Amino acid sequence: MDLFEHQAKELFAEYGVPVPTGKVAHTPQEARAAAEELFAAGASKVVVKAQVKTGGRGKAGGVKLADTADEAEALADQILGMDIKGHMVHKVLVEEGSAIAQEYYFSFLLDRANRTFLSICSAEGGMEIEEVAATKPEAVAKVPVSALEGVDRAKALEIARAGKLPPEAQEGAATLIERLWAVFVDEDATLVEVNPMILTTDGQVKALDGKVTLDDNAAFRQPEHEALEDKATTDPLEARAKAKDLNYVKLDGTVGVIGNGAGLVMSTLDVVAYAGEQFGGQKPANFLDIGGGASADVMANGLEIVLSDPDVKAVFVNVFGGITACDAVANGIVSAYKLLAERGESVDRPLVVRLDGNNAELGRKILSDAALPGVEQVETMDDAARRAAELAAAGA
Ligand SMILES: Nc1ncnc2c1ncn2[C@@H]1O[C@H](COP(=O)(O)OP(=O)(O)O)[C@@H](O)[C@H]1O
Ligand SMILES: [Mg+2]
Repeated sequence: MDLFEHQAKELFAEYGVPVPTGKVAHTPQEARAAAEELFAAGASKVVVKAQVKTGGRGKAGGVKLADTADEAEALADQILGMDIKGHMVHKVLVEEGSAIAQEYYFSFLLDRANRTFLSICSAEGGMEIEEVAATKPEAVAKVPVSALEGVDRAKALEIARAGKLPPEAQEGAATLIERLWAVFVDEDATLVEVNPMILTTDGQVKALDGKVTLDDNAAFRQPEHEALEDKATTDPLEARAKAKDLNYVKLDGTVGVIGNGAGLVMSTLDVVAYAGEQFGGQKPANFLDIGGGASADVMANGLEIVLSDPDVKAVFVNVFGGITACDAVANGIVSAYKLLAERGESVDRPLVVRLDGNNAELGRKILSDAALPGVEQVETMDDAARRAAELAAAGA
């Protein structure tokens, strides 16, 4: 789960990482009130920042300086409702403007390829680090961090120096780096990024932006993370699927996809998109991995979620039998139809099923004997994808 900037900064503050004072506003009026408060507390200017989970907000016009509360209100009015790279702005962060002397880059992340943690530090911050790394690789320091040794003062200083931060910023930066390591470890994060980390004209080092990705696999031991979830912009279908423990991601096409195994489902999405080009650009409507043990319950829940999407015109069930054999999956589909009928939610759109792998013959026989209305079997993945796309085009 990615956090909003304001959530990242609230977390930083809990760990003693210096951040500008600020407040979230959902309306221009709230933004004005927040700005008035900041000016009253001595701020000479304030910044209005779009809260969306994507970078480059500054470039997109989502970060603006204001000298008065009037101006802050007008800017909030402009920024709220903006679309930044497909993300609608529902709230802004109004914070005190910092007097910036220099902007640096800093992050901790999980380096999967090298099976370690990594810190990245650069004196060239503010802009996109990928760009700096491409044009000026010598300006970007990558310092591995051992999970066992972690980051103490000496390590933090080593990182700040490797990033070629100027001497006057090194001590302050090291303090930030040590505390950000505590955030990274204690909160089970896979990314903590501060871009820019700034040196102010009066010599302080602060986190001016914050991006944090929390490891969802650690949710069981981080009960307070649930409150950080963005319920307002989570897709309602995704939320329902999550409640049923299904790995479902809503996409914007017309062909519902159900498969077993994340890899198979990913390639199913590709095959459907490719086949769909022949039928007016039909695309997959979702990702849904029902995992290894495709019980009737799981299949029924999966079908129910996929069919709840009104954009879905046909469903492609793509199963490669492994430990869970195809006959078990076929029985799962048959029972799922019964279960759904009992719940009063009959399957009202065509289903193309491809069964292959362990006990495929038996699975196919079970399905054809059941003669479920609207269910067609196709032997290969490519042909099944084509047929599903064709049916989706016909139903659209
Ligand atoms: N509180 C602030 N005071 C002064 N300038 C700011 C403040 N917050 C952001 N900025 C400026 O705006 C730029 C972009 O803001 P940032 O939070 O990094 O958003 P993004 O990375 O999405 O563009 C920063 O590099 C900085 O120059
Ligand atoms: Mg930034």
